Amino acid sequence: MYVLGIDLGTSSVKVSVVELSTAKTIVTVQYPESERAIISLEPGWAEQNPEQWWSDVQQAILKANATHLYNPKHIQAIGIAYQMHGLVLIDNQCQPLRNSIIWCDSRAVPYGDAALNALGNEFCLTHLLNSPGNFTAAKLAWVKDNEPHIFNQIHRVLLPGDYLALKFTGHATTTESALSEGIFWDFKEKQISNALLQYYNFNKQFFPDIHPVFSKHGELLSNIAENLGLKPGIPVTYKAGDQPNNALSLNVSEPGEFAATAGTSGVIYGVSEQLIYDHQSRINSFAHVNYQRQLQRIGVLLCINGTGILNSWLKKITGSIHSYENMNALAEQVPAGSEGLLMLPFGNGAERILMNKTLFAHVANIDLNKHGEAHFYRAAQEGIAFAFKYGLNIMRSIQLSPSVIRAGKANMFLSQLFADVFVQNTGVPLHLYNNDGSAGAALGAAIGLGVFTSIKDAMKYQQPIQIIEPDKYKMEHYAALYEKWEALLNEKMNNHL
Ligand code: XUL
Repeated sequence: MYVLGIDLGTSSVKVSVVELSTAKTIVTVQYPESERAIISLEPGWAEQNPEQWWSDVQQAILKANATHLYNPKHIQAIGIAYQMHGLVLIDNQCQPLRNSIIWCDSRAVPYGDAALNALGNEFCLTHLLNSPGNFTAAKLAWVKDNEPHIFNQIHRVLLPGDYLALKFTGHATTTESALSEGIFWDFKEKQISNALLQYYNFNKQFFPDIHPVFSKHGELLSNIAENLGLKPGIPVTYKAGDQPNNALSLNVSEPGEFAATAGTSGVIYGVSEQLIYDHQSRINSFAHVNYQRQLQRIGVLLCINGTGILNSWLKKITGSIHSYENMNALAEQVPAGSEGLLMLPFGNGAERILMNKTLFAHVANIDLNKHGEAHFYRAAQEGIAFAFKYGLNIMRSIQLSPSVIRAGKANMFLSQLFADVFVQNTGVPLHLYNNDGSAGAALGAAIGLGVFTSIKDAMKYQQPIQIIEPDKYKMEHYAALYEKWEALLNEKMNNHL
């Protein structure tokens, strides 16, 4: 017997099938092979078509079935992880009313700032744990103001994973975790925030029923089951944002456990028992995927929008002749510090750690007689690691420090670089795992099905494949370089209008 996990990313969908009794991943596939584009009609805008997501999800499932490594009819449940914060609007026929305004779209920043001013910092932080910032609620306010003809047709406001579950089951549900990532959730009142709804003049009926993350979110429609070769009626039993889901897949569910991940964005994610927040919302607090609802677990998320996408951009502009492996191999040949080349990796919209400023990516100190493309590849990775260090300092300032950092297995060069840069802040090595978001979503589905008694029970098979200790010499070298990098960042921030 099996469970199926889906991870709806920005650049592609991944699907894994996991065997229930052993929690072993039978197959993982990705669709499409080439990166799915972000539609950007105006500077700072980022959209994707929900129908495209749904089509990609179906193609990915069919591709997994085509491996013949399992009997699709033996799949017992479906789990869904999805790119967070995206706004999906559907009409009363359950059709999307417009493209989804996705997580890295910056247009809503003024709407979040206005709400922060009107509702007050104290209220926003203690009730919502964040400024409404650039999250889903602010995106919806933009639609209300700029596309009233669309706003007036809204039947439901969904997060991307809610939309996928609706397509599978015909049933719209959401979760506290999803509503909190959209900044609709009041942690003190333990309900959708009336103050926020009133301020923005949103209708409470926009939101579907709230279900626990690990629970039945509907049953597979027969026609969809037939198209996908699955058994009709199997339940969707798990739905989570990709970052809490990644944390789950790395067995991160208790205070002190941290997860690090790199996709289009890069994230470091910690867990707290307290309702903690950063006073400037540079790192963000959301409801983690709690198994026992009575146990409060807040996921604290440090996100850099422009990380993986910076690497894919570099690959593209250097003529796509290199694979990522080659790019890293070239970067490894350059000395630590990229011989003076410095990069700020903030080229994918408003960055939360920079108080939602759109700073753009910057490269400093190019020496035409010294630097080649390999320096750019290395400076990009170093800039990303430094940006994380900057964020880790903010996490530390709210008393959130890791006792362990777990990350998916990347190549050794990157893992070592990150360990060398981070350890100054954390004092802990990097534990590498063979994890995968879609396999995590499959295990989430198994937990939702009741096969495991807790997250820790489901993750008992996860063991680190390697522990990366920092290199003492490089660690000191990077600590000095970081000062220069931060000075460059401060200079750009000061000049930023
Ligand atoms: C997390 C975030 C991104 C998306 C990427 O807060 O915005 O990491 O989840 O899919």
